[in-house]
Formats: sequence, C-alpha cells, structure tokens
Amino acid sequence: MENDGMQSVSMPRIGDKAPAFKAVTTQGEINFPEQYSGSWVILFSHPADFTPVCTSEFMTFASREEEFARVNCKLVGLSVDGLYSHIAWLRTIKDKIEYRGMKNVEVKFPLIEDITMEVAHKYGMIQPGESSTKAVRAVFVIDPKGIIRTIIYYPLSLGRNFDELLRVVIALQTADAFSVATPADWQPGDDLIVPPAGSCGTAKERMDGKEDMKCYDWFFCTRKLDKEKVLSTIQKQ
Ligand code: BEZ
Repeated sequence: MENDGMQSVSMPRIGDKAPAFKAVTTQGEINFPEQYSGSWVILFSHPADFTPVCTSEFMTFASREEEFARVNCKLVGLSVDGLYSHIAWLRTIKDKIEYRGMKNVEVKFPLIEDITMEVAHKYGMIQPGESSTKAVRAVFVIDPKGIIRTIIYYPLSLGRNFDELLRVVIALQTADAFSVATPADWQPGDDLIVPPAGSCGTAKERMDGKEDMKCYDWFFCTRKLDKEKVLSTIQKQ
C-alpha cells in the first residue's frame, strides 16, 4: 500500500496502558503516569502558548480545577513550547487577562515543555494534516491504574467543552462503581443502562418486570440512581 510520503505515527488506544515518560513542567519534573497512580488524570495538549483559544481554555481549566479534584482527577497540560515560554504565558494570564468573569487566574497544574515533541509523538498529538509544528487539542482520560479510558481530539480552531470533560470523568467513574453504562447525554441523576441480559431466563424476567428496572425491550433496560448517591460514591474513590 502507498503511504503518500506520510510518516506513520503511533496512536495510543482506549484500553492501552498510558505511554510512560519523564518530563520537565512548570511545577517541576514529573514521572508519568507512575506518580499519578491512584488518581484519575486528564493529560491534554494545546497548540501553542500566547494564543487566544488556548488562553481561554487554560483559564477555564484552571478555574475549574477544584471541580475535577473533587472527583479525584488531576490535570496535566502539554505543548511543544519551552519552559520559559510556558512560565511567561502563565504569568501573563495571571497578571493581565480578564475574560468572561475570570481574572487573576493562576494555573497550578503542571504544563509540560515538549520542544523535542517526544511526548506529543508518543500520544499522537502531532497530526500533520492539521499542523506538523503544533499539537492538536488532544484529551486523554487516564484511570487510577494508568489505563487510557477516553481519547478526544479537537482541531486547532475549536476550544474544548469543559462541562463535557467533567461529564466524561464522572460517567466513567459511575460505570466502574455501579457496573452500568451511561446513555446518550447522560448526566448524574439520569437513568443508567444495565448490562444486557445474558440468558433467555434473565431476558424473560426483565420483560416480566421481575427486576427493579425499566425495560424498553429485553436488551435495553435502565435503572434509577439519584445524583447524590452517584456523587457521594465517586467522591469517596
Ligand atoms: C489559538 O489557541 O487561538 C490557536 C492556536 C493555534 C491555531 C489557531 C488558534
């Protein structure tokens, strides 16, 4: 097969162990994902320091860091800029930028310098059709065992939705804690999907209404779980 001169790159997949690396960050050196064992972590890339969409994203992420911390999720950013550029940009954000009610925003989570693109290449963050010199807006949600559980890529021009990123973490934790799945547009407090019936007997029982769930058909059943129970369970993890 022809490859059109395009370099092949490795892309981690959902279910893979997060590729390991050591890196210099704005909060000192990190050993990833080893030092995050026991926590959820969002590793995300942005195209470049001192750019407007990225600035809006960093201000939003930093302002909402506490909401992620409440569900045991840490944040780690990356771009292919150097450490001094990162420091200067984060200082500018804190000292000068006021945006949508956010001001004096201090970015306290680590921002990785990756001038060599070593980490960006490991995580498939450089996507040459979009840019060969800047990382796309990649998001890797990694669980406390260091397994990649969700991957989302956005192009350079599209700022991320942070409600959705928080929803993803909460939904993954809910699925793990209650052995369920989450339907379209699920939010804590909405009905959850129970695993499909594994036998004809279970399918019949469900359709006969013997279990405490609502069945739209034998393969599609939901159960209730209130928001407080979801949040109190996942916040204890
Ligand atoms: C931005 O963050 O504003 C941006 C960065 C790279 C390309 C386009 C926009």
